Amino acid sequence: MSEEIDGRPGIVMRKKWKELPLILLLLILTAVSVMGCGQAAGENDVEEEESDAVQIGFSMDSFLIERWQRDRDIFVSKAQELGAEVNVQNANGEVSKQISQIEYFIEKEMDVIVIVAIDGETLTEVVEKAKKAGIKVIAYDRLILNADVDIYISFDNEKVGTLMGEYLRKALGDEGTIICINGSPVDNNVTFVSGGFEKALEGSDIRIDRVGYADNWLAEVGFDFVSSYLAEEKVPDAVMCGNDDIATQVVKALSENRLAGQVYVTGQDADLVACQRIVEGTQYMTVYKPLELLAQSAAEIAVAMAEGEVPETGATIYNGSYDVPFEKLEPVAVTKENMDEVIIGKYHQKSDVYLNVQG
Ligand code: BGC
Repeated sequence: MSEEIDGRPGIVMRKKWKELPLILLLLILTAVSVMGCGQAAGENDVEEEESDAVQIGFSMDSFLIERWQRDRDIFVSKAQELGAEVNVQNANGEVSKQISQIEYFIEKEMDVIVIVAIDGETLTEVVEKAKKAGIKVIAYDRLILNADVDIYISFDNEKVGTLMGEYLRKALGDEGTIICINGSPVDNNVTFVSGGFEKALEGSDIRIDRVGYADNWLAEVGFDFVSSYLAEEKVPDAVMCGNDDIATQVVKALSENRLAGQVYVTGQDADLVACQRIVEGTQYMTVYKPLELLAQSAAEIAVAMAEGEVPETGATIYNGSYDVPFEKLEPVAVTKENMDEVIIGKYHQKSDVYLNVQG
């Protein structure tokens, strides 16, 4: 069973003996003893209520960005297929809400807590509390810093940035001026992506003229960032965008200045609108991260951990205090050239991606 409570702790997903009100407990015991033996029909009902299923709490940042609903749906359906029950909580981008939702999971004695951290630096204490309570903790997609998480499962985020950098180098012939509008500065993935991006440009004559950040991944920041740059009578050769949602706003600003299609734009997530822009020529590339693999593997790992297994990973990553086992998945660059091969039929339908393209 899966539940989304939209930020409000309050639904008990599994009845345990100690949570049953005393009066109900007495009624059940009376019914069983009146029937004279332990074979009473009511006993099965009680067992059903008790549910031995693995209990997973999934704490998510928000659903504003297209990908996260997919993450949730794939994760929940895989976990359910494996016999687990999942309680999904949406923190709507608020750190304090996320912490209280994780505390709620601890109170409910979940077996595993899976977290998409809003701010990688704010969960040290609550993760410690969960670990002390014997709960396994999985950092999903975003690393949690200075916390003893059991595993971090994500894509190679540095490579996401590397791919953007390498593709721009190729497109620009190794020279030009670019501006970068990254995502949330407290999302650890952003550090990796921009690090990989800058490294990929080393040795080229590409100059980064301005760098900005979109707090809370607020895409509109991308619109203002580009608009004010253009207002200075400067036109960049390319805009590196932290994700496709930001790219949407960047392309909007470019098109208001009749520059859409003339400035290279990068992004990540392979959102449908970004794939449409790529085949239409207003976005150069995106980075596709197969969420199916991420969400399914995370669900499998969560259930295995709850059952006492220790999953093996090929890598570890240092989070400031601990070497965390890292299940690292590969991102893929997507342009007009490989759109059909990588995306069509796997992530989006052809008729949707080519909706506005004749032909
Ligand atoms: C993820 C991106 C996503 C962004 C905003 C990042 O941590 O890596 O895929 O677009 O968060 O939600």
